[in-house]
Amino acid sequence: MTAPTASDPGLIEPGEFLTEEFRVDPFPLYRRLRDHEPVYQDKFQNRWIVSRYEDIWAIYKNNAQFTRAVYDPRGKFKFGSDTPLGQTLNELGEGPDYVWLRGIVAGEFVGNRLLARVPLIERIAADIVGRFLANARADRAAGQAARGRVDLVAQFSARFPIRVIAGMLGLPEADNDYFEHIYDELFAGNGYGRAHFRRGMKARDELFAYLDPLIDARMAEPRDDLLSTFCHAEKDGAHMTRDQIRGYVALLLVGGGDTTHKAIDAMWWNLLRHPAQYEAVRDDPALMDRVFTEMLRFDGSNHWQRRRAKVEVELRDRVLPVGATAWLGLGSGNRDERVFKNPDRFDIFRDDLYFGKELRTGYWKDGVASHLGFGQETHFCMGYALARQESVIASRILLETLKNPRLADVPNEGIAFPPPGRGGVRGLQHLDIDFDL
Ligand code: HEM
Repeated sequence: MTAPTASDPGLIEPGEFLTEEFRVDPFPLYRRLRDHEPVYQDKFQNRWIVSRYEDIWAIYKNNAQFTRAVYDPRGKFKFGSDTPLGQTLNELGEGPDYVWLRGIVAGEFVGNRLLARVPLIERIAADIVGRFLANARADRAAGQAARGRVDLVAQFSARFPIRVIAGMLGLPEADNDYFEHIYDELFAGNGYGRAHFRRGMKARDELFAYLDPLIDARMAEPRDDLLSTFCHAEKDGAHMTRDQIRGYVALLLVGGGDTTHKAIDAMWWNLLRHPAQYEAVRDDPALMDRVFTEMLRFDGSNHWQRRRAKVEVELRDRVLPVGATAWLGLGSGNRDERVFKNPDRFDIFRDDLYFGKELRTGYWKDGVASHLGFGQETHFCMGYALARQESVIASRILLETLKNPRLADVPNEGIAFPPPGRGGVRGLQHLDIDFDL
C-alpha cells in the first residue's frame, strides 16, 4: 500500500498508518502529527493519537482521568481472556490489585537484588558470544571465511535476554530453546486477524501446561527464584491464583525478552552507522550507558502505549469522550523538536537529554528532559534497570570480542515495526556484522 499523497501536510489520512513507508519510517508522519494534529482522531482504528512530548507526559500523570485498565470487574470483559499472555497486571488499572501484583517482584529488578544477578547476566552473554566466535573461528580454520560474520539478532540478542529472564524465574536451562520458540509464538498472537490470535492462544495453552508441574513443585518446595516468589506471595491471607502466576511468567518472558533484545540490536545498528561515536565508545566503554539512553530516545523498542479516558477529557482543541482510547506516541514524543534539538540525529553527546539513570516521575532534571522509552509514572517499565544492565553488559562484552566490527554489505531495512505476520516490538529483523578474526 502506498501513502495517499496529501498536498496539505496537515491533512492526515488514517490509511497512512497502514503503509509500508510508515512501518519502516514513521517519523515524517509523527512530525506532521505534532505540527498539525497533535491530538488526532483516527476514525478508522477508533483511537486518538497523542504525539507531543508534553501531552504524553500529562496523560501519564493523569490517573484521575485516564487508566490503563481494559478489565473492569463489573464489565463484560473476562480477565485474561483476550490476550495470549493470560491474566496479567497489564489489564488492570492502578488499584490495589495492580499495586500488589507489581510490588511482588518489582524489587527484584533494581538495586542490590539486581546487582546479585550481574554474574548470571555476564555468564549468559559470554556463553552465547563464545559460541558464535567459536563457529567463526572454525569457519576460518576450514578456509571458508577470512573474516568473521555474525547475525547479531539470530546468533546473539534473540537468545540473550530471554535466557536471563528464564534464569531469574528459575525455569530449567535445558529448555531455553523452547522459551525462545514460545515467545515468538506468543508474539505472533498480537498480529492482525483471528489466525494469528489462535496461534498465540495455542502457544499460551502450551506454555501454561508446561508451567503447571513447575508451579506445583515450587508450591511444595520454594527455591531462590521468581517462580517461588509468585507461588508464596501473600496479602491479607490471600495468594496469587494459578492463572495469575502463569500470566506473570508469560508477561516477563515476553516483556523482558523482546524489548531488550531489540534494544541491543538498535544500539549496535546506530553505533556502527556513526563511526566516530563507535570509536569514542571503543576508547571509553563507559559511554555504552549513553548509547543505551540515546537509543531509547532516538528509536526505542516501544513506540506506543494505550490509555482509556475514564471521563470526558479536553485535550488541546479536542474532546475525548468517555471510553476513548488514547495512543501515546512515545516514539514521536522522543523526537519532539519542542524538547530536543535536531531530534532526528543520533547523538550520544547531545546536551539536551538526561543521561543519568531513568527518571520515573518528573521528566526534567538538571534542566534537560528524559527520554520516554520506558513510559512514565505509575506503569513505568518494571524492568528498566535490568534492561539497562543487560544491554550495557552485553554490549561491552561484544565490544571486547568484535575486532573492527562493521556492517556487512547485505541489504537491511533497518529498525522497523515487524512485518505483517511477525509479532513483537519495533526493531531489526537481522543485523549482519563483519569483524576481524
Ligand atoms: C529496553 C527494554 C525495554 C523497554 C523499551 C520497555 C518498555 C516499557 C514501557 C514503555 C512500559 C510502560 C507501559 C505503559 O506505559 O503502560 C513498560 C512496562 C513494563 N515493562 Fe518494560 N521495557 C523494557 C524491558 C523490560 C524488562 C527487561 C522487563 C522484565 C522485567 C520489563 C517488564 C515490564 C513490565 C512488567 C511492565 C508493566 C509495568 C506496570 O504496568 O507497572 N520490561 N516497559
